[in-house]
Amino acid sequence: MLARRLIERKRDGGRIEPGEWRALASAYATGHVPDYQMSALLMACFLRGMDRIETAALTEAMLMSGDRLDLSGIAKPRVDKHSTGGVGDKVSLVLAPLIASLGVAVPMMSGRSLGHTGGTLDKLESIPGFRTKLTLAEATEQIQRIGCALIGQSPEIAPADRRMYSLRDATATVESIPLIASSIMSKKLAEDLSGLVLDLKRGSGAFLPELDRVLELAEVMIKLGKDHGCPCVALVTAMDRPLGRACGNALEVEEAIAALKGEGPPDLMSVTYALGAEMLVLAGAAPDLDHARREMEKSIGTGRAAECFQKIIEAQGGNPGVVDDPAVLPQAAECEIFTARRRGFIARVEPKAVGRAIVEMGGGRSRVEDVVDPAVGFVITARPGDWVEEGEPLATVFAHDRAGVGIGRQALRAAIFIADEAEPPLPLVSHRVTISGVELYETD
Ligand code: URA
Repeated sequence: MLARRLIERKRDGGRIEPGEWRALASAYATGHVPDYQMSALLMACFLRGMDRIETAALTEAMLMSGDRLDLSGIAKPRVDKHSTGGVGDKVSLVLAPLIASLGVAVPMMSGRSLGHTGGTLDKLESIPGFRTKLTLAEATEQIQRIGCALIGQSPEIAPADRRMYSLRDATATVESIPLIASSIMSKKLAEDLSGLVLDLKRGSGAFLPELDRVLELAEVMIKLGKDHGCPCVALVTAMDRPLGRACGNALEVEEAIAALKGEGPPDLMSVTYALGAEMLVLAGAAPDLDHARREMEKSIGTGRAAECFQKIIEAQGGNPGVVDDPAVLPQAAECEIFTARRRGFIARVEPKAVGRAIVEMGGGRSRVEDVVDPAVGFVITARPGDWVEEGEPLATVFAHDRAGVGIGRQALRAAIFIADEAEPPLPLVSHRVTISGVELYETD
């Protein structure tokens, strides 16, 4: 009865009060509100919008629907990074050990791939033996001992969001700024953080492509963080082309390990350093962004960052030998080099076409229950702006069988545009958003 009244009110443009959101989230998490009523309410929220008070109340209600990490026994500052996701985005795999190697605790809770975007958990699970399902007690102990745990959203964390997010996926109600902000922040705030850095993607491969919507999302999330004593900084980064060269689970782990050893592609390193510097400054571990960057370069140069990744892998049951020998990772049965069909400039490399092909080749998910093939994907060496000659290698397709190679080849034909003129890509990092407002990001 409660749910029906609230749906009706929201449908007619009214507001749901904080106590009502709390009752609703708790009833939904415990199965006392059916999915059909929650779907109707979510659609009403999507169409009517939600003001700041409602967004804060829904965040709080989803957070309170479950447990939280309690890291009060850890003397270090605790900082995480959240990305709105993309293709080739393996930044978390590099950042978590890198920042933990510099004395900051990183309780990183990540997601799985869904649709065209990849997921950190699937990438990690391509490491033989790696366990992402830790209990909250195990995660806490590991963070205390080695400064980092890389885990999935356990059933105890924000269970109302867990159910609502899958419902939103099925009812076309994901792309609502208040719903996205409350969903992400309810999980991040459960990590007991002292700071959070947001990597908000824009461009054709992002789930919110337009800059104005991304900036609005940043502002709402930063405000929610502030209300909960968790300072946040957001960087707007480019997802109009894949990040780095590798796209696909095991291939991305290999590239992330190379990055931790100082051999990462320049675009991946720029985004990693930009986000990492914000994390270190938020944590109070560096006085400014330049200093933070130098510390990260040092940790990579001395091998500390890679060593830290090895410790995390070992602690979570994975084969730590992967850091020295990437051949430990699952290998694709078939591979084929993809070459340029004409000379010209690489005008675009469309991330969505690449991400969708990985799903079709078995390396991603179109339904939550799909099992992924960790070995498949692409290594794309062609970057927008490059000049290429006909017949020049642009990428390699890694597939399970010849049919997969065919899917990959077809996708690259659609994804990589060669033209007589280069099109300027989006700046890798374009804006920095804090509680004080939006500024253009300064690059060196
Ligand atoms: N990721 C989430 O966790 N929730 C959303 O609503 C969108 C992306």
